[in-house]
Amino acid sequence: MGERDFQNEWLDQYLELNSSPEPALLKKLRTQTVEEFSQHHMISGHVQGRFLSIMSKILKPEHILEIGTFTGYATLCLAEGLRKDCKITTIDINSDLKNFYQPYFTESGYDNQIESLIGDAIQYLEKTEETFDLVFLDANKKQYIDYFELLVPRLNPGGVILADNTLWKGKVLEEIAPKDKMTKALFDFNQHVAQDSRVDVILLPLRDGISLIRKK
Ligand SMILES: C[S@@+](CC[C@H](N)C(=O)[O-])C[C@H]1O[C@@H](n2cnc3c(N)ncnc32)[C@H](O)[C@@H]1O
Repeated sequence: MGERDFQNEWLDQYLELNSSPEPALLKKLRTQTVEEFSQHHMISGHVQGRFLSIMSKILKPEHILEIGTFTGYATLCLAEGLRKDCKITTIDINSDLKNFYQPYFTESGYDNQIESLIGDAIQYLEKTEETFDLVFLDANKKQYIDYFELLVPRLNPGGVILADNTLWKGKVLEEIAPKDKMTKALFDFNQHVAQDSRVDVILLPLRDGISLIRKK
């Protein structure tokens, strides 16, 4: 199956029309991201953002971790499910992004519940003693297995990892080698998680694929 067959513009529009509307601040953030970043396709966007928001509201997490802040879109979606005394930690290796997302965090009213870190997520996970109830995994695809192995011990029982891009534009479905490195990494990650008895997993075909992984 090719990239073109996998994406479906009409389906995307239908999903947008029949999901909760995108909050105005997030629409502004997304528009500015598209204007200022050539890599703007990395942003979660309307429908995936509503999915993250509703998952956060259902799970009522005390501590959320986002790996890969980018312009802060998903951070603010996830923050919608936080109760007053709870927090979200978000980390990105790119120090230039803070100037972009900080004004949005301030305007959102969630700023005092957001801990935004600059650094490498692997180094952070190796050192932290924090535990998490919900993790949005959305950074370097080649490191997904490493993130996962460091995350599982830090997840509370019943805690959830949402791993983004696990269908990789449908390329993981190509059965015949050679696969490019990124596709191979996500292919291996999907298999790795499916075979791990510590977790339950369902790979959802939303947008670019999101794996919903729950620690037993
Ligand atoms: C797909 S974007 C994140 C999008 C964002 N979560 C959203 O939904 O709007 C991936 C981000 O991961 C960051 N990143 C890549 N490798 C990283 C690493 N090792 N540690 C932390 N962040 C990393 C990149 O700088 C980039 O901003």
